[in-house]
Amino acid sequence: MKTVAVVGTQWGDEGKGKIVDLLAADADVVVRFQGGNNAAHTLVVDGEKFILRLIPAGALHAGKVCVIGNGTVVDPLALCEELAALRARGRFIDDALLKLSCDAHMVMPYHRAVDHAREARAGRRAIGTTGFGIGPAYEDKMARVGLRFDELRNFARFRDKLTRNIADKNSYLRAVLKAKPLKGGEIVDQMKRVRGRMLPYLCDTGAYLAEAVAAGKRVLFEGAHGAMLDIDHGTYPFVTSSNCIASAVFSGAPLAPGRLDAVLGISKAYTTRVGAGPFPSEIKGRLANRLRIEGEEFGSATGRPRRIGWFDAVLARFAARLNGMWGLALTKLDVLTGIDPLRVCVAYQVGARRYDEIPPGRSALERARPLYEELPGWSESLSGARALSDLPPNARRYLERIAELAGVRLVMAGVGAAREATIVFSNPFLA
Ligand code: IMP
Repeated sequence: MKTVAVVGTQWGDEGKGKIVDLLAADADVVVRFQGGNNAAHTLVVDGEKFILRLIPAGALHAGKVCVIGNGTVVDPLALCEELAALRARGRFIDDALLKLSCDAHMVMPYHRAVDHAREARAGRRAIGTTGFGIGPAYEDKMARVGLRFDELRNFARFRDKLTRNIADKNSYLRAVLKAKPLKGGEIVDQMKRVRGRMLPYLCDTGAYLAEAVAAGKRVLFEGAHGAMLDIDHGTYPFVTSSNCIASAVFSGAPLAPGRLDAVLGISKAYTTRVGAGPFPSEIKGRLANRLRIEGEEFGSATGRPRRIGWFDAVLARFAARLNGMWGLALTKLDVLTGIDPLRVCVAYQVGARRYDEIPPGRSALERARPLYEELPGWSESLSGARALSDLPPNARRYLERIAELAGVRLVMAGVGAAREATIVFSNPFLA
């Protein structure tokens, strides 16, 4: 297959970065199509850890084209920093290999200020955002007052619009959010400085991708976040502000519908989420702490401790249906070593009723009690496993049961952080 999308099936942090990095070896082009630097994709390459927020994970392979599509929102200051950090570590991205959609919206310092001020004001009702201004930037896009990268070409016009936006945001910050206004001149100067660095990357990514696909190139679409954080399908309002399911490829890369060959969903062998909101299979106490430490479950973007839960097959089925998943990759199986028995949430109970799917009217999820199935654990280390036959029987049984409950075939299993610590049953680019 030539065009493959990788998407998260939980609340983000499923280990998509690692799988994208692995598949990027066989791809020509890697594309981000939604979200911004609220994403943080962690990769371990040759023993070195990298966290990529905006730059597609293909950047760690030489010669791959990295595309940031129009559906993303991009903080130009954060992009400059990320590029500089990669270069400082000897990972040079050739300017010609990075293509930033001229239609992508810019995240401005006032978006971050609004995000912070709103969360501070919301107190106990806060969403627990990453604080990077992502929601406010998408709001401006929808309100048709956002600034797109293309507008940097004519800086005088850009400055006028930016100045108007700053004045509006400052009124809102002062009067409604009771927060400190921003210094407009500083923002204009910052944008003047980054302009020259952004212009060489600007590209009509739709035309570029159509040509690449027509030429038979292999294109990998790198989703951010996860189905349960999707603005339409997730646990609203505790979601991010973009569509995180595979259909966002068609509007946000963009790729024509019908041109996508396969969707690979990524799940952790257990579940995590950061921020507030319902989480039916959540566990607390010593076991949660143990998994948090073993799995290094601290937000890569913000450092916050992640909430921990058992694998939730109801969510997996939901994500499989929404995404039309071709296969499932289960990551971090090794983290479950030594826990016996293991539990998997197979259904919910709300009141007296059992639900095998997410109950309608998502607020029911807040009242949903998990119904568990128990599976025997294993004590052997999995880190050296490179084939299914290297896994202890109970680990194999766990994988098989999860695939069965999710209704999707399992195509990969992760047994460690490194690129090579992955058992690949089927690679979509070679299938
Ligand atoms: P925002 O995307 O910063 O607006 O945050 C909204 C919600 O999405 C919060 O609960 C965040 O913790 C969550 N979120 C956003 N991006 C990620 C991610 O990449 N991984 C996990 N959670 C995320």
